[in-house]
Amino acid sequence: NGEMLSWKGDVHTVLSPICIKTPKGLERKIIGTYPLCDKEEANAALEAAVAAYNNGRGEWPTMNVAQRIECVEKFTHQIIEKKQEVVKLIMWEIGKTFADSTKEFDRTIEYIQATIDALKDLDRQSAGFTMEQGIVAQIRRSPLGVVLCMGPFNYPLNETFTTLIPALIMGNTILFKPPKHGTLLFYPLLQAFKNCFPKGVVNTIYGRGNKIIPGLMESGKINVLTLIGSSKVANELKKMHPKVNRLRAILGLDAKNAAIITAKADLKLAVQETVLGSLSFNGQRCTALKIIFVHRSLADEFLKQLSESVAKLKFGMPWVDGVSLTPLPEPHKPAYLKECLDDAISKGAKIINENGGATNESFVYPAIVYPVNASMKLYTEEQFGPVVPVVPFDDLEETIEYLIESTHGQQVSIFSNDDQEVAALIDPLVNQVSRVNINCQCQRGPDVFPFTGRKDSAEGTLSVVDALRSFSIRSLVATKLNENNKH
Ligand code: G3H
Repeated sequence: NGEMLSWKGDVHTVLSPICIKTPKGLERKIIGTYPLCDKEEANAALEAAVAAYNNGRGEWPTMNVAQRIECVEKFTHQIIEKKQEVVKLIMWEIGKTFADSTKEFDRTIEYIQATIDALKDLDRQSAGFTMEQGIVAQIRRSPLGVVLCMGPFNYPLNETFTTLIPALIMGNTILFKPPKHGTLLFYPLLQAFKNCFPKGVVNTIYGRGNKIIPGLMESGKINVLTLIGSSKVANELKKMHPKVNRLRAILGLDAKNAAIITAKADLKLAVQETVLGSLSFNGQRCTALKIIFVHRSLADEFLKQLSESVAKLKFGMPWVDGVSLTPLPEPHKPAYLKECLDDAISKGAKIINENGGATNESFVYPAIVYPVNASMKLYTEEQFGPVVPVVPFDDLEETIEYLIESTHGQQVSIFSNDDQEVAALIDPLVNQVSRVNINCQCQRGPDVFPFTGRKDSAEGTLSVVDALRSFSIRSLVATKLNENNKH
């Protein structure tokens, strides 16, 4: 509610993925603490957001678009001043390289600017009128209410702001919980929220999601749930809402994006894009390539070139130039990846590359696993880490069957130099996933493109203008023209 609360309660100790040597061996470095709100405090933040919305009569939802844009522009200027601090915290909290942390910050600012421009366009359109059958109508976009916003650890700033900013600028009020890994980086920005928006419009809560979020959902006072995270959590949260039919959910969820390398692929290009697609930020992107189908005739050469390329990747601390592989923030991840590798090996697969899967506390060296088949965890589970499962295939139909059977449906990449082969694949593939990439890796950007997924991969659509639509509803002001009605 626009106040920075001093804190006497429990705190969470933040451990960096970056380790230091201690007498006990390598240990994750302590880099800070954050408050652990209890249910009452979280509820007070919810009540502040509800009061600021005031059933659509609050200062923020009734402010005109130009004024709301002005507040967001002021906010943008203030957060730009915090760039260095935020970039440094992204590196320390989630181990993202300096180059990628900087890119994340800059991309977020560009996204906010694009959102402002798109809203100006939408607003211009709604200033117009349409007339049908003697009725003149003006179409407006109205806010939805209180938005509970939760971003993921892998793009803590960007993914949070690509939901929070459009929700905010459309006149909703916000309750926002930073991700567990990627919390401290919001601290330098809190003052900007306080400076730029009316009291109660943006409320930040800290704490363990499983302790404080259920109460918020059960209150029935959340109008929109926006979460970039797991579909399991999203389903559980939705079920807690007493009037789930009145809850709008804008969700970016699990994905198991596949690459399909046909017999007619440019192998060098396919290898290059597979390395980028599956191992950028250690494979911790929802858009990462998480399973690679390669035509059996190319499999040996593909594995050889892929292993050579992976061997050239540099491991190290995120601030070191040229490093691309860095420590993993989630403490459970090395053990989980080992479990997936052991499972695949016990069922007949091999780790193809030297040192593949080797671990050292929070480091995991990338593992290329072959031949992966349907009996293995790596065939269906989203590993979200530096493991590249490779599946040989004989007939393209097998890859389409895989996508049909999959519970995910975000993206796919096809590698082929044969235009007719590509053309024949597009239709069957766009009916399974939300984006088909031809001769390039899967990715979210450019951010003005719609970003969504089928099945358990998403609900609603994000990306600039789509997000503005997602976080608002169309309302009509309609006037029937007749002798007595000349407004
Ligand atoms: O983790 C999901 C991100 O939105 C992916 O974005 O494809 O630009 O890495 P990206």
